[in-house]
Amino acid sequence: MKNEQIHSTEDILHMLDSFFREEGPWWNRFYSDRSKSIPFFVHAPDENLDQYVQNRLGSPGRVLELGCGAGRNAVYMARRGWTVDAVDLSEEAIAWGQERAKSAQVPVRFHCQNLFDLELQPNAYDLIYDSGCFHHILPHRRMSYLDLIQKHLKPGGYYGIVCFAAGSMGADMTDWDVYRDHSLKGGLGYTEEKLCDIFRDLELIESRRMQSLPQPGPLFGESFLWTALFRKTAPAK
Ligand SMILES: C[S@@+](CC[C@H](N)C(=O)[O-])C[C@H]1O[C@@H](n2cnc3c(N)ncnc32)[C@H](O)[C@@H]1O
Repeated sequence: MKNEQIHSTEDILHMLDSFFREEGPWWNRFYSDRSKSIPFFVHAPDENLDQYVQNRLGSPGRVLELGCGAGRNAVYMARRGWTVDAVDLSEEAIAWGQERAKSAQVPVRFHCQNLFDLELQPNAYDLIYDSGCFHHILPHRRMSYLDLIQKHLKPGGYYGIVCFAAGSMGADMTDWDVYRDHSLKGGLGYTEEKLCDIFRDLELIESRRMQSLPQPGPLFGESFLWTALFRKTAPAK
């Protein structure tokens, strides 16, 4: 915004963004050393995602992954026959994901973009999945995040989320505190109640802590994370 004048809601969102760290460079530095001992650097899908695929989602369809990082869940979905769009704003993460998809010999359409700039087909996805991105989204961007989900999910489509479980991991602060402190403090912790309130236009299907599993292993599982699956209601006939 050149002259710092506010003409639109979008200008207000950009102004609020500008009070916080720039996400792209920060995440690029984060992914630049792949040898770091970061739980989600393992190449294994979330245990809850595996369970949704096996027990709930039915035959493979189209999935959009938000904040896909190095592509561990995207590659898993492609291996299971899903058509995958995976977005992340970090070039380093996307490059790593592309390498993983190549060595697994599966197609994944990666988008190196801020998820708020995505222009994809509306009402097209059977599943939108977010593992660990939502808790880094600033509160003033939540409305746009919810719009993105409503716009891109098919009626009857699912939305799955993994985020910091409040009390175990993540900052315990109100939305207003985020602006008082000019920081998300490494990501917000969410309770089941808060998630149900935020995603109240979707139907809650299941909500639980992620199972703790030995790492590295075939599935990723850490109990400081909360998992939830919602569904976009189909219009009544
Ligand atoms: C905690 S990491 C999780 C990565 C991956 N989902 C996983 O579990 O391995 C969060 C990811 O969200 C991405 N991210 C954060 N804000 C984003 C935004 N506005 N648009 C796109 N990606 C974003 C970061 O670059 C990072 O890769």
